[in-house]
Amino acid sequence: MFGAVQFGVLAACVVLFVPMGMAGWHLSRNKVLFFSGALFITLAVGVHLTPYFPAFSSMLSSSPSLSSLPSSPVVSSVNRDSCIAWLHDIEFQNNIDSNSSVSHTKSSWKWRDSSNRLVDCVFQKLSKSDASDLLNGSWVVVAGDSQARLMVVSLLELLVGLEEIERVREDLFKRHSDYHTTVNSIGMKLDFIWAPYVSNLTNFLVELREKRYFPDVIVMGAGLWDMLHVNNASEYGVSVKMLKDSVMPMLPVTPAFEFEDRPVEVRSPHMFWLGMPTLVNSMLNTEAKREKMTDDMWYAYDEQIYESKLVRKFGGPLFLLDIHSLSGRCGSLCTDDGMHYHGVVYDAAVHVMLNALLFESQQRLT
Ligand SMILES: *[C@@H]1O[C@H](CO)[C@@H](O)[C@H](O)[C@H]1NC(C)=O
Ligand SMILES: *[C@@H]1O[C@H](CO)[C@@H](O)[C@H](O)[C@H]1NC(C)=O
Ligand SMILES: *[C@@H]1O[C@H](CO)[C@@H](O)[C@H](O)[C@H]1NC(C)=O
Ligand SMILES: *[C@@H]1O[C@H](CO)[C@@H](O)[C@H](O)[C@H]1NC(C)=O
Repeated sequence: MFGAVQFGVLAACVVLFVPMGMAGWHLSRNKVLFFSGALFITLAVGVHLTPYFPAFSSMLSSSPSLSSLPSSPVVSSVNRDSCIAWLHDIEFQNNIDSNSSVSHTKSSWKWRDSSNRLVDCVFQKLSKSDASDLLNGSWVVVAGDSQARLMVVSLLELLVGLEEIERVREDLFKRHSDYHTTVNSIGMKLDFIWAPYVSNLTNFLVELREKRYFPDVIVMGAGLWDMLHVNNASEYGVSVKMLKDSVMPMLPVTPAFEFEDRPVEVRSPHMFWLGMPTLVNSMLNTEAKREKMTDDMWYAYDEQIYESKLVRKFGGPLFLLDIHSLSGRCGSLCTDDGMHYHGVVYDAAVHVMLNALLFESQQRLT
């Protein structure tokens, strides 16, 4: 405990004073931004997802020498909103390996670099060790349908590597079941909750609230299963609105609630919505899917996400991981069944999520 707090104070001093000092030495703005970006990774390691955050932030605000300083011009001038808007500006490269008898696609992705955005926004593909630092000691829940399961695979692949995934693949892909694991090296708890309908997600959130014990990160998304089995967009919309209503009480605007007459601090989770992928109708593998999962139906379902104001882009609470855009950019070479995409798409989505977490952690600090 003591070590973590000390580290937090040290990190705070570093992030406040070093960029200000550098600005004083007339370094270019880009260099300062780049440097402060590198610092906030370091800072996130110390404070982002550790249980010591409340202690750290109260120390920061109660220390007269720190709080009397003007806020750092460098950190606050990073235009987070526009950076966040560019997070999905990713391009994929599909190289067909024509040598092998079965055609085999090898894909990769990177952020498009227009007008120095990468320098300004410091987007980065996190290495295993950066991601481990960021998620050290945290509890991550991914809930939803098969898309959500693929997200878990990509996150685990980043954290523990492909061989380890192969070892657990059977458990992970047991149809229609939950999967719980702990990444021992970093004490991270990762749960996959099979929640094919939006109502299952709502029930899950209600359970969490009853237990008063929240994950650090929640990723959720459901839609494909509903489209196939219910195929009624207005009913889907009703359950999305109920989900949104159950998310609202978990937001930071309600920092404390009463428990046995004492206010209890709530660390609200970082929450993401996993959007539905681009469907390639002709590749869907059953007649029922081809008939029900049409483009028109896709848009009718997506419209409900907009109407319900579930995601932040439309004024709602959840950060959208835009699988539709990512999978569309990767294209039909990146899917075998027209709805589940190759790992490269979910890997990109995992990095969008981790970068969004880094931006959010900075936002909470300034
Ligand atoms: C494919 O074959 C060509 C020549 O036959 C060779 O130059 C190339 O390296 C091979 N590519 C891969 C990916 O094996
Ligand atoms: C995780 O955090 C603990 C302390 O909170 C630290 O001892 C450990 O080295 C960290 N592990 C990694 C992989 O960063
Ligand atoms: C999800 O919700 C449906 C409909 O409400 C219900 O029938 C099903 O049992 C639920 N599944 C899980 C895994 O909770
Ligand atoms: C969708 O559900 C609503 C409400 O349950 C119902 O009124 C409507 O007829 C349904 N639409 C279709 C196309 O089945």
